[in-house]
Amino acid sequence: TQAIRLAPSILSADFARLGEEVRAIEAGGADLVHVDVMDNHYVPNLTIGPLVCAAIRPHVSIPLDVHLMVEPVDALIPLFAQAGARIITFHPEASRHVDRTLGMIRELGCKAGLALNPATSLAVLDHVMDKLDMILLMSVNPGFGGQKFITATLPKLAAARARIEAHVASGGQPIWLQVDGGVTVDNIGAIRAAGADTFVAGSAVFGAPDADGGYRGVLQRLRA
Ligand code: DX5
Ligand code: ZN
Repeated sequence: TQAIRLAPSILSADFARLGEEVRAIEAGGADLVHVDVMDNHYVPNLTIGPLVCAAIRPHVSIPLDVHLMVEPVDALIPLFAQAGARIITFHPEASRHVDRTLGMIRELGCKAGLALNPATSLAVLDHVMDKLDMILLMSVNPGFGGQKFITATLPKLAAARARIEAHVASGGQPIWLQVDGGVTVDNIGAIRAAGADTFVAGSAVFGAPDADGGYRGVLQRLRA
């Protein structure tokens, strides 16, 4: 079977001990650190800025996967690139010019991702496939951790996977397919079968009981 990437979301970490928390997920086998940036405008919550990103950067060697839920988005992108982001993902509704924003992310030396809300059509991908390194399908409405996985995401993932396969078959670059929201040990098998290769998990990772092996234990069960 294909290798997968696990991206614990620090939204559910202990913010008073963030350095320790990101070191613990790296030691536990995480592939990416997922950083949820919320602005109380695009989404009804307020979280992490570039300063916090820069503060955690030296604590890990795995890439920072920055998910921007901010509007407008363009002005913040260089700040997160400077703060050590390796992947920068934004929502098309938050950019006046999606193609330009994707180009800006790559010009800054980062991988570019586009995040689609549960009700956003895959049609927004039609004319930008060449400029994408990752497609993020939201499986909850953005804004909060700990929500329930929306099952309509499964056929949407399959359709996105088919688009990626067709793109690669016609000579296009590889594109990661990330899923974000409500991922658990119990549903990850079905989500993987639908075509996702990169998995965000917040509450499932940071809420894992020490008795069950803590972060390492849950990351192993998610990968199994
Ligand atoms: C939601 C965020 C997600 C969220 C995932 O807006 O983008 O990354 O924190 O958390 P869980 O895994 O708890 O649904
Ligand atoms: Zn996220």
